[in-house]
Amino acid sequence: MSQRPVRVLTGITTTGTPHLGNYAGAIRPAIAASRAKGVESFFFLADYHALIKADDPDRVARSRLEIAATWLACGLDPARVTFYRQSDIPEIPQLCWLLTCVAAKGLLNRAHAYKAAVDKNTAAGEDPDAGVTAGLYMYPVLMAADILAFGAHRVPVGRDQIQHIEMARDIGQRFNHLYGESWRRVTGATGEPLVLPEAQIDENVATLPGLDGRKMSKSYDNTIPLFAPPAELKRLVMSIVTDSRAPGEPKDTKGSAVFQLYQAFATAEQTEEMRHAFAEGIGWGDAKQRLLARIEEQVAPLREQYAQLIARPAQLEEILQEGARKARDITVPLLDGLQRAVGLGTFAAPRAAAAPKARAAAAKLPQFKQYREADGRFHFKLVQGDRLLLQGVGFDSPREAGQVIARLKSGGAAELRHVADVGVHLGETLIGHLAEGVAVEEIVEALSRLVEEA
Ligand code: TRP
Repeated sequence: MSQRPVRVLTGITTTGTPHLGNYAGAIRPAIAASRAKGVESFFFLADYHALIKADDPDRVARSRLEIAATWLACGLDPARVTFYRQSDIPEIPQLCWLLTCVAAKGLLNRAHAYKAAVDKNTAAGEDPDAGVTAGLYMYPVLMAADILAFGAHRVPVGRDQIQHIEMARDIGQRFNHLYGESWRRVTGATGEPLVLPEAQIDENVATLPGLDGRKMSKSYDNTIPLFAPPAELKRLVMSIVTDSRAPGEPKDTKGSAVFQLYQAFATAEQTEEMRHAFAEGIGWGDAKQRLLARIEEQVAPLREQYAQLIARPAQLEEILQEGARKARDITVPLLDGLQRAVGLGTFAAPRAAAAPKARAAAAKLPQFKQYREADGRFHFKLVQGDRLLLQGVGFDSPREAGQVIARLKSGGAAELRHVADVGVHLGETLIGHLAEGVAVEEIVEALSRLVEEA
């Protein structure tokens, strides 16, 4: 049996324009990590979060487009990972509300960003909550929903975000405690409804210095935009601060922004050569020229890709819509179970607790259910009683979905395979995804019962 892949989820706030520091510190390592075996990666544009920080619609729209194009240009492979926009997944705000109703207000009072705003107001003699929106206050709950909606095991973040991951665990745990039993009853599943995530802090990731030598950051206004046109890139590199040592004088690599930037874009060997050149007294102008060459070497091909992508928003839209479909294969069934667990959901299905006998009988025979989603596609699922076994992918027509079901019911189970990171295949065709905690053997077994019964 294949090992369950580790789910890794990365959220990208869509404010601002990506710079070299974002590239070396976040984009490049995250894309490399998404290519590892045994991980299932989710990348999303946190555009609802962007509204908390920015209220200029044009900027928010522009930044979403730029960031989507940037990550794809830098090599994020949407066939391999699930890449989507937060605002395309209605289950995220749905879950956000379920979590809001269990989150302790006192917990949110302690969030760093909120506390900083309150402290600032207090110091200025203002009302503590002056200018603080409920959105800022709720930021950690929305972030918890982002993570918990996907059962993410690991969330790579910077140190400033550790508290948010801890809050997601805390809120998730509280939900599990309050509703876990009800959830197990209505879904027939075992385990807990929400997976508690871990923060993943990469100690080796570079933080790059900006033009003035401080950490490259939009808030210091010292950034080099990742896709600045070549002439502007050159102008910016030439303006990086240095000490005033003349050509011929030996230079310190330590504390040199030029050297640290060089290191982030050069091989180990090139870096050693540069270290030597510093000791030999390379002039700052020359060193900057070499740095520029290294950056250009890496960035020029990406810039080309970026220009093509940003010129075709319709194509980007299609990629993100497909990502949303993949994402919702996970969130729709999860939310269905959670809604029922808290006492919402359809009147048509009797509450499991009220009719345990009927439920046990129903559980004996697996069933296919076909339905049309809001995305207009035709889905199916295989359930056993209240328990979801297999969530089908969406098909363009009910006939296609019907044909897959017919094949499964008539001995096609022999052709089922589970491909880690991808899903359940019938022959060569991807037909769906295993529900949480279900092994493909269980589906084969359930289908054989159907065949026997027919
Ligand atoms: N708060 C994160 C940041 O500022 C962005 C984010 C939103 C996020 N939702 C997330 C990150 C979920 C990881 C998981 O960087």
